[in-house]
Amino acid sequence: MSTTAHTGQYTEEILLRSKLLWGEGFLSPGGPDEVAELVKEVEIAGRDVLDIGSGLGGIDLLLAREHRARRVLGVDVEPELVERAAAEAVRAGLEDRVRYRLVEPGPLELDPGSFDVVFSKDSINHVDDKAALFSDLHRVLRDGGWFVSCDWLRGPNPDQSVVRGLYRLLGLEASFDSLPERVDALRGAGFPDPLTRDRTSRFAGFFQDDCIRLAGPLKDQIVALVGEERHRAWLEIRRAMHRAMTTAALAVHFVRARKPAPLD
Ligand SMILES: C[S@@+](CC[C@H](N)C(=O)[O-])C[C@H]1O[C@@H](n2cnc3c(N)ncnc32)[C@H](O)[C@@H]1O
Repeated sequence: MSTTAHTGQYTEEILLRSKLLWGEGFLSPGGPDEVAELVKEVEIAGRDVLDIGSGLGGIDLLLAREHRARRVLGVDVEPELVERAAAEAVRAGLEDRVRYRLVEPGPLELDPGSFDVVFSKDSINHVDDKAALFSDLHRVLRDGGWFVSCDWLRGPNPDQSVVRGLYRLLGLEASFDSLPERVDALRGAGFPDPLTRDRTSRFAGFFQDDCIRLAGPLKDQIVALVGEERHRAWLEIRRAMHRAMTTAALAVHFVRARKPAPLD
């Protein structure tokens, strides 16, 4: 997998902000309910799951514990995140079923046909060569296996200089494709009928809620932790993200696709 920038993007400040706003172990909004919504049409129980961009790993623990995955492998490019996620799996007593692996950008060193489900939440926007990634995911999936994802995309009304500026404010690099480009890339990789579901307004709601909590109940705690200036910056960034979604510069979609089985 190639990535726009892959070392140390997720600073301590981003990790703290994510924990306070989105909960322990999550680097994306929505918590367990959003994960449940994302996987509700796909059988996870008893399956082997690969998570692309596993971050702090909270979702992988959920997939094993709540959704009863047989085995989960989370891969990520940031060593600190992989280490912390692995420590949490041990603390949760799930280290036999939930593993993490630090990966280099480029093809994954995983056997062909070794997973039933490839999962990914809010991570693929960091990968430059999405077509190469999807071919690789097709390779590691078993016949009939599912790719199930949520991701940030270029919206239908993009002002990409604004969006990139926003991501720089966030301290993150991303390369946004549009929904048609995402669907085409998946088709080109051998997933014939990708299914999509727009989550932009739901995510706008998450960011609006973040703004309300940052300006209200969380304000004193955050000012005490990071100071007034950073608190103001956090609020500004959240407002700008909300604006980017409500003006359709940025979009968020679930995208799900199945690798055909030979008898399909
Ligand atoms: C927004 S976080 C989401 C983490 C996790 N999925 C969650 O929802 O809590 C994006 C993650 O993608 C990882 N990432 C970035 N580029 C990657 C790549 N090329 N391959 C795998 N992971 C990558 C980052 O290190 C980060 O942990």
